[in-house]
Amino acid sequence: VPGQYDARFRPKFHFTPQSGWMNDPNGMVYFAGEWHLFYQHYPDGNEWGPMHWGHAVSTDLVAWEELPIALYPDEKGYIFSGSAVVDAKNLSGFGKGGEPPLVAMFTYHDMAAEKAGKTDFQSQGIAYSNDRGRTWTKYAGNPVIPNRRNKDFRDPKVLWNEKRQEYTMVLAAADHVEFYASPDLKNWTYLSSFGKDQPEQFGVWECPELIPMQIEETGEDAYLLIVSTNKGNPNGGSGTFYYTGHWDGENFTKLTETAYNTPGTKWLDYGRDNYAAVSFANVPDGDGRTIMIGWMSNWEYAQEVPTEAWRSAMTVPREVTLHDTEFGYRIRQRPVRELEKLRGERIELGTDYLEDGLTTVDLSELEHPGVFELKFSIDMHGNSESLYFTLTDAESKDFYRFGVERGPNGASDKWLFTSRDFAGLREFDEDFTRDELTYLERFSQSSVIDFHVFFDKTSAELFLDDGLTVATDIFFPTTDFTKLTIEVNGGRADMDGYLGFSVDDWRLH
Ligand code: FRU
Repeated sequence: VPGQYDARFRPKFHFTPQSGWMNDPNGMVYFAGEWHLFYQHYPDGNEWGPMHWGHAVSTDLVAWEELPIALYPDEKGYIFSGSAVVDAKNLSGFGKGGEPPLVAMFTYHDMAAEKAGKTDFQSQGIAYSNDRGRTWTKYAGNPVIPNRRNKDFRDPKVLWNEKRQEYTMVLAAADHVEFYASPDLKNWTYLSSFGKDQPEQFGVWECPELIPMQIEETGEDAYLLIVSTNKGNPNGGSGTFYYTGHWDGENFTKLTETAYNTPGTKWLDYGRDNYAAVSFANVPDGDGRTIMIGWMSNWEYAQEVPTEAWRSAMTVPREVTLHDTEFGYRIRQRPVRELEKLRGERIELGTDYLEDGLTTVDLSELEHPGVFELKFSIDMHGNSESLYFTLTDAESKDFYRFGVERGPNGASDKWLFTSRDFAGLREFDEDFTRDELTYLERFSQSSVIDFHVFFDKTSAELFLDDGLTVATDIFFPTTDFTKLTIEVNGGRADMDGYLGFSVDDWRLH
């Protein structure tokens, strides 16, 4: 839709649907040179409605091309979240002409059954494509897993188990996840459950996924079990957490971490705007990365945010690695390296250190106001009390801020926070700004704090300490942010950093 990509709140390098509502990423899979992103989509309105799978592809994880809708709701129900695999051995028999099919597994949500007071309104179905995801055929034998269990029974994520030569699937069932196995994607056998006895009972569990990983420090194999929950985010609303464990083909067991600090819930993101994140299947040989994308919103206010033509964006793709740290098994998330190609002219921050006071960096010359990358590290070993990075407009009216404040326990105790409460429009929903500061947990004791931040008009994604803590926030400034102020209070902070810009017009096709 020419022109619409210029709309005031439209991000430049994050995926947004051309029009209509979007929530969870679905069916992410790499196939024949393309990264496929499907997503929960309602094309006829900008609030949640009868769910379809929208579709976009990218050859580089940076520029996305929207394609026609992949899956439409039918008499069995709306098409809820799910996943896709390349059925490389054609075990499903859906392949054609020697080419492996793409097979999607999703949840059917039968609205009529729900309205009639039934509880078995969610079941699992499959569909396949023989033309690189352009068109899809739903399997005549759907549902492949009827619902005999629970009214919340959804979001199947499928992976291939090489050792057992079968597919494994994990789905969410209210307060736990369930694992299933299949030789052909059509016939499924229940294996086991996990979660009922875990402390993470904040709300309904959704969009789980099991990811084979290697602990980078030890080379040991482990699995991440990712779960989204529609309540319980430490900063409010919906959020995503993870467990590190073993998967033996039938059962998931957590790794013990008694010797470590902070055994509490491990959140994927400490901001409020990263939900239902899942990873790409079939990442090419020799690449081997785990790459995740999440929905950059929160169920508390997603349907109210002030965009009209479309609603919501995805996060940037992030590479995920697993680590054995002094704070337990933790993931790092780093923006994928492909994003570096968006870098244009760079402003080096000319100061070696910042004394007490305020420094202003002029961002009014950016090709796209409010669209840039910020990378620096700062040593807070000195006696500085606090450090604020504030992105603001010419009149310093609206601002988004993040920074470090001294915590209650002396010089070495520092809080990291973000603040979007005065970043522009906020009256659309009272939950949008319920706490002035979003506190971020830190998983490093180093006095050097390393920041890598992506701004894209209406969002900030902060990667702290090389991705050990991540925070994603959305906001809606009334005028463009053209000024960055850096404020050090009480003492000095050593600094080394630069501003890089994203100037490509690739998004305006
Ligand atoms: C998560 C979710 C999923 C469901 C989908 C419906 O955001 O509630 O559990 O499949 O959205 O759109």
